[in-house]
Amino acid sequence: MAVERTLSIIKPDAVAKNVIGQIYARFEGAGLKIIASKQKQLSRAEAEAFYAVHKARPFFNDLVSFMISGPVQIQVLEGEGAILKNRDLMGATDPKKAEKGTIRADFADSIDANAVHGSDAPETAAQEVAFFFSGLEINGR
Ligand code: PPS
Repeated sequence: MAVERTLSIIKPDAVAKNVIGQIYARFEGAGLKIIASKQKQLSRAEAEAFYAVHKARPFFNDLVSFMISGPVQIQVLEGEGAILKNRDLMGATDPKKAEKGTIRADFADSIDANAVHGSDAPETAAQEVAFFFSGLEINGR
């Protein structure tokens, strides 16, 4: 399996719950390396630009408002099959439907406040990593 990079965001609900370390342990336990990370308070314009692909969806404004309700922890994960591996660790978008033992089943409260974001495909992963990190910030590589 190819070594990939993916963008992960620990959302404001999970940052407020003080579970960044517990979520990082799950990434590392699954063999994913955290090769860049930062904590950031997103502006409305940044959140709208990041989620631009969802602009027409009915929940767009709620999603943006939630993502700027507090700081987020943003990281680049690297490893074999990192994109799918991270999506498996996260669980389904709606925590009520997420499998037991996934991050969303264990830490998320609702479909709006669902603890984590992860890129869904190689093209989006490359775009999302570049949205938040310059090449120089990624482990000098
Ligand atoms: S996904 O993750 O793209 O497969 O899921 P999708 O259902 O397409 O949802 C896209 C993002 O929108 C968030 N979402 C919502 N936010 C607020 N309210 C409601 N009802 C809602 N439904 C979905 C969902 O968490 C996805 O955000 P990210 O950050 O990509 O996980």
